[in-house]
Amino acid sequence: MSRPGAAAPIGVFDSGLGGLTVLRALARRMPEESLIYFGDTAHVPYGSKSPEAIARFSAEVARFLAGRGIKLLVVACNTSSAWALPALRRAARVPVVGVIAPGARAARAVSRRGRIGVIGTEATVRSGAYPRALRALGGGVRVVSRACPMLVPLVEEGWWDGPVAEAVVRRYLAPLRRSRVDAVILGCTHYPYLKPVIARALGPRVRLVDSAAETAAETERVLDRLRLRVPRGRRGRREFYASDSPERFRRLARRMFGRGVTRVRLHPFDA
Ligand code: DGL
Repeated sequence: MSRPGAAAPIGVFDSGLGGLTVLRALARRMPEESLIYFGDTAHVPYGSKSPEAIARFSAEVARFLAGRGIKLLVVACNTSSAWALPALRRAARVPVVGVIAPGARAARAVSRRGRIGVIGTEATVRSGAYPRALRALGGGVRVVSRACPMLVPLVEEGWWDGPVAEAVVRRYLAPLRRSRVDAVILGCTHYPYLKPVIARALGPRVRLVDSAAETAAETERVLDRLRLRVPRGRRGRREFYASDSPERFRRLARRMFGRGVTRVRLHPFDA
């Protein structure tokens, strides 16, 4: 079977709404590219699952997207990038871009004192993927990590601001405030939905790092290198899939991604 060419779409996935923050960055940077998004809403949250389950769900989604003829896969989920990226790369016939290395690079670039906070799901924090990626960049960093398991359900519920979000975020972030970090990586693609709340909780001196823009830049570099870019001019197609409750996903996705989310198709996985 021949490899997908430049006209093929880019596949993007997450456990739910989170990866839409990356999809938006991709659509802004490369509007001419066609994008297929998969929200694995039947299995969200990934962050409290075992590494085996995370790897299995990620592989199922990657297989589905491969079947749609994608030319590149963006793993727009930190949890999946932390635990499943090497296996996805081995199995895929197309290049695979994760969010952790781009996020670490972006943080290293903005942190003046090298004191970097990482917030993410339990599974991402447990993996140690961010401290590893930051140390690999050199220059002596101090990393303070904090798992914030209730933030993904808050975002999936559409509670992106208000007193409940403020209280939960403040409580999770209190230790990071005390440890005087100068940059904090939003190490879960759901967290940019809560960015104003997180910024208020950490105060104006802490830079928030969202890996979406850097991941989009990395995707563009890979496509350029492989000569897989579609010519500029036309606007690419957008397709959305969810593994459960597509109507609910559509309603919330429109709040994030706009009215471009016209239809969300259901693709359930067998149990
Ligand atoms: N948005 C994902 C991440 O970046 C997954 C969150 C979850 O499902 O727990 O980690």
